[in-house]
Amino acid sequence: MEKEETQKVQGKDVLVKMLAAPINPADLNIIEGNYGKLPKLPAFAGSEGVGVVEQVGSEVSNLKVGQRVIPSTPGLGTWRNHIVSSENNFSVVSSDIPIEYASVIAVNPCTAYRLLKDFSSLKPGDVIIQNAASSMVGHAVVQIAKSMGVKTVSIIRSRPEEGQMVERLKLLGGDIVVTEEYASSHHMTKLLSDLPKPKLAFNAVGGNSVRNLAKHLGESGTIVTYGGMSRQAISVSTSPFIFNDLTMKGFWLSRWVEKNSKEAREKMISEVATLMKEKKLTLFMEKHKFSDFSTALEASQQPFQDRKIILDFQ
Ligand SMILES: NC(=O)c1ccc[n+]([C@@H]2O[C@H](COP(=O)([O-])OP(=O)(O)OC[C@H]3O[C@@H](n4cnc5c(N)ncnc54)[C@H](OP(=O)(O)O)[C@@H]3O)[C@@H](O)[C@H]2O)c1
Repeated sequence: MEKEETQKVQGKDVLVKMLAAPINPADLNIIEGNYGKLPKLPAFAGSEGVGVVEQVGSEVSNLKVGQRVIPSTPGLGTWRNHIVSSENNFSVVSSDIPIEYASVIAVNPCTAYRLLKDFSSLKPGDVIIQNAASSMVGHAVVQIAKSMGVKTVSIIRSRPEEGQMVERLKLLGGDIVVTEEYASSHHMTKLLSDLPKPKLAFNAVGGNSVRNLAKHLGESGTIVTYGGMSRQAISVSTSPFIFNDLTMKGFWLSRWVEKNSKEAREKMISEVATLMKEKKLTLFMEKHKFSDFSTALEASQQPFQDRKIILDFQ
């Protein structure tokens, strides 16, 4: 943004200098034109991030210069140095958490939070099962579940040096961490036999991976699909639906944000920030200068990453 434009902050508008923003799979899906809601073009990419308020218009009443803010709606476009928009489009975020944590707080950890809160009344000792556990959502599911006393069964894709990812997820509090191959073998049934059957399954992969979730889910359990990283249609056997009374549902955080108040979202984000402050929610990130965007973009598209790519605007 040109300097002249940044000097025209008026009315309820604020000028926000972006500090950091992640590259999430949904950002790439939106650019590809393959997403539930697409912006009107021309548009800025990037659905979340954190910035600092640098100027406020004369009618701004809720934000102050120097406050750290995140967009309160997903479609603002965060991959840019400055944003000028109404104060209503931002929420204050705790400055007690590191900038990169604030930059990712609104989407992936909140998705994990909603998956764990909205589909069953989970109690301590209950069990959930998930695929794509190597993802940021997967990491957050393990840790938020642990803070609720809920046990997790996590499935990852086979990858080079997969032992490191297994160890990491266990260190974060994961109870059982296995590969897709193991999950589809007869060993898995034996491994899970001492635990209560999972009440919920979280699917971000699709394809045959969903068979593994359905196979191990308890009676009347629910499979919640929130992503489709394999880009393959969900494939599940018929029998668990009939004989085990399974239910399949979808979840989209954008819809949740649309249907719930700004206050409800801020309460959720503040709870997630508290977990971060208390070191109960650790996330793994790698910063890349925004000026070197093409390297960052390329890194974000590699398989078997162990860190989320963050654009650094400072
Ligand atoms: N519904 C919602 O509201 C919502 C909100 C947030 C996120 N999401 C979705 O949640 C998922 C995870 O997001 P994230 O940002 O946490 O992910 P991330 O940290 O960027 O990690 C990507 C994940 O996708 C897996 N993956 C990539 N390509 C794959 C393939 N071809 N087959 C199987 N797995 C593959 C990766 O596994 P490897 O480590 O093995 O490469 C990794 O677990 C995405 O699908 C995202 O769109 C949905």
